[in-house]
Amino acid sequence: MANVKVIYGSTTGATESAAAEIAAAFGVQAINISNATAADFQADLLILGSSTWGVGELQDDWAAKIGLLEHADLKGKLAAVFGLGDQSGFADTYCDAMGILAQKAKGQGATLIGQTSSEGYGHSSSVAEEGNMFCGLALDDNNESEKTSSRIGAWVEQLKQHL
Ligand SMILES: Cc1cc2nc3c(=O)[nH]c(=O)nc-3n(C[C@H](O)[C@H](O)[C@H](O)COP(=O)(O)O)c2cc1C
Repeated sequence: MANVKVIYGSTTGATESAAAEIAAAFGVQAINISNATAADFQADLLILGSSTWGVGELQDDWAAKIGLLEHADLKGKLAAVFGLGDQSGFADTYCDAMGILAQKAKGQGATLIGQTSSEGYGHSSSVAEEGNMFCGLALDDNNESEKTSSRIGAWVEQLKQHL
């Protein structure tokens, strides 16, 4: 059985509830980055989630604990990222924090999985996007909360194919 960990940062609860849904699909409990330790970054598949705050910044608790990711040894491990953002109110920095987490995880040697199509979203730019793909799962509870559960369900199935 693969060791899967889900680590998230959330200010108003949107990323927390997405993390709980994703973690439940893998039969684990999501870990709030506020309570995370270095040991939590040791997993066969590390799933990292952050909402975006400020203008394209990591969620505050992630910003405070980003050193854990920057020092994690992820060589030979899989990582996947998800993000919560507002594609209408922050169209130019939509889900940027997810892109920041992806870059850092790759920088530590992880193989990133779980990329998704960015077609059908209404943003104009995102550091989490390359071509017409997001580096992970982009969620938007501000504008499209009705799509969140089905997006999570499809993404979890996509991730499970790698395990
Ligand atoms: C002050 C403020 C700044 C924000 N900045 C961004 C942003 O740059 N990009 C984005 O996609 N969403 C942005 N958002 C939207 C939040 O990421 C979104 O509401 C998210 O669902 C919050 O998730 P959380 O409750 O897990 O923290 C911002 C929201 C606020 C209130």
